[in-house]
Amino acid sequence: MSLAQPESTTPAPRGAATDPRLLTPFRIGSLELKSRVIPAPMCNVSDRPFRGLNRSAGAHLVTTQMVSCEGLVRHDRKTWDLLDIAGEDAPVAVQLLGSSPEVLAEAARIIVDQGAALVDFNMGCPARNVTGNACGSALMKEPELVARIVRSIRAAISVPFTVKMRAGWDGEDFSALSLAKICESEGAEAVCLHARTRAQGYSGQADWSLIAAMRAELKVPVIGNGDVVSPAHAVRMFRETGCDAVMIGRGLIGNPWLFRACETAMADYLAGRITHEDQVPDDDMVVVEEDGVARPMRVPFYMREVTLRERLDLVLKHTRLMVEAKGERRGVLEMRKHSQHYIRGIRGCKALREQLMKIETEADIVRLMEEYRVFLATE
Ligand SMILES: Cc1cc2nc3c(=O)[nH]c(=O)nc-3n(C[C@H](O)[C@H](O)[C@H](O)COP(=O)(O)O)c2cc1C
Repeated sequence: MSLAQPESTTPAPRGAATDPRLLTPFRIGSLELKSRVIPAPMCNVSDRPFRGLNRSAGAHLVTTQMVSCEGLVRHDRKTWDLLDIAGEDAPVAVQLLGSSPEVLAEAARIIVDQGAALVDFNMGCPARNVTGNACGSALMKEPELVARIVRSIRAAISVPFTVKMRAGWDGEDFSALSLAKICESEGAEAVCLHARTRAQGYSGQADWSLIAAMRAELKVPVIGNGDVVSPAHAVRMFRETGCDAVMIGRGLIGNPWLFRACETAMADYLAGRITHEDQVPDDDMVVVEEDGVARPMRVPFYMREVTLRERLDLVLKHTRLMVEAKGERRGVLEMRKHSQHYIRGIRGCKALREQLMKIETEADIVRLMEEYRVFLATE
């Protein structure tokens, strides 16, 4: 399956209901988006190479990781390195982190000057060093400050403006609903909900009923987020919550094919070709042998059409993008980690994984991929 797989051509059953979301373009403010699947902002992941890969996989809106507003206005070099969007295909969203309405407004103006097509505000980060500075999800306890922040950013920029939040701070506190209404009334043009509280971190399950509740309360688009790792999940979130778009984070790491598979399944659902996620094909169970030990492993159905060559080529493409964006030394070092995701479950992956952890140069990785191809051909 190529990254640019066309949408399904299966005809809709007679009498199939047409979902209203099929009839209306998906808009965030003045920005009309071609896709209802959006890659999530992720620290140390959503860099320029990753955004490029997401775009090749079909994403329309891509986003940076969170960027500190204080760092931007103080011209801190490391913070500005994260704002590497100059000359990138539009639209790119930039996510801001901070808690001062004035500094956030100034930072919002800076990122729009740099080319951001959309400004997103982080109200969900649970990390202690962030919440300890009263930023990220700590703001979920400060509705008045949130109102001032949203008003201040809104007044500073004219591009679309969104807020990404968690379900609440802890326990049974699902303050997201009331905060989302505040954000909407102060000018946010969409809200994204990662349906876990700050206290949950990444444990347990995201509570999608909160996304449905938010959809019912707001007029602006609601983007559902949390635990979508398969096309069936994307359809279920879409069906159960009525959300306008689905945001995917961890599932896309090392697996850009998930993007198009989710889009295709959601398009089938919207057009009435399928009415339930149960109609999305099942994963395959394959047996992977490592050091003489055989173990079963789930392989997503859409990977049936992805050749090993395509996976190895993607390692090379990602490496090239990393070297272009960050220079050879840093790019290759960071690729040690990324490359592990692409080779999961392939024959001889243990030995390959170990060798990938030692790569020093782009040439090393090119050679390694070539040797691996020869190994497969001669096995
Ligand atoms: C490595 C990593 C880094 C993240 N960094 C950010 C970030 O910078 N800003 C943000 O709003 N959320 C961040 N998140 C949260 C994701 O955007 C997303 O809300 C969360 O992972 C749930 O979605 P998922 O289940 O599809 O992964 C991060 C998550 C991960 C795993």
